[in-house]
Amino acid sequence: MEMSEEEARNLAAQLGNPTGEDGIAVGQRMLSTNINMIRKSAAALGLKPGSSLAEVGHGNGGHIRELLENYNPASYTGLEISATMQEEAKSATGATTPGTKLNFMLYDGNSIPLEANSIDAILTVNSIYFWKDPGALFQEFRRILRQEGKVAIGLGEKAFMANLPVVKHGFRTYNRNDLLEVLENTGLKLVDFQDHSETVESNMNGLVDRKFHVALLSKD
Ligand SMILES: C[S@@+](CC[C@H](N)C(=O)[O-])C[C@H]1O[C@@H](n2cnc3c(N)ncnc32)[C@H](O)[C@@H]1O
Repeated sequence: MEMSEEEARNLAAQLGNPTGEDGIAVGQRMLSTNINMIRKSAAALGLKPGSSLAEVGHGNGGHIRELLENYNPASYTGLEISATMQEEAKSATGATTPGTKLNFMLYDGNSIPLEANSIDAILTVNSIYFWKDPGALFQEFRRILRQEGKVAIGLGEKAFMANLPVVKHGFRTYNRNDLLEVLENTGLKLVDFQDHSETVESNMNGLVDRKFHVALLSKD
């Protein structure tokens, strides 16, 4: 079944900032579709136990407990623009997490309310498409990262994403060169750009082969 323009526009808005009951449902679908991308992106960070981890655009957070169990960070800071996703992530993760200090923050999507040199690793999956000023946000990443810090970005392949009806409604997609361009003058450099593929359930078309990348950044 084809998706109407109206449906595609509404879904695109929900993916970029999930809100209300529809947002909760979209958040649940995102988790099941994207869990493999999240796992691959987190693995690229090479997290050592006791690290401080931040995640930008965590969505409903159904993956966070698994992340904490696998990597034992000393702190996990969630940064979201969606109050609906923040609430979902808090209740999915629970109040008590042995060994990890939890901090869920709502912010404006541009200025990160964290101290300079306070974070070892930043994870962000399927969120970059919606950032208003990606260059400025990358500068913020650099500011909060410690010297040896890393950023892992999970993102759909540009050519694959061009076929999705939602993408023309406000998404910005990236290939390796687009990412290099936006990283110029941010003080961050691209150290790895991995190609992955997987079979996932699409919103309208049943099972599809999806290609995606995990980009790894470090300080210049
Ligand atoms: C498509 S969802 C992806 C959620 C999850 N990471 C995943 O891969 O399933 C995009 C998420 O990024 C969030 N988001 C959009 N712009 C953001 C920004 N500038 N900073 C932080 N989160 C943002 C949205 O609220 C939404 O929860």
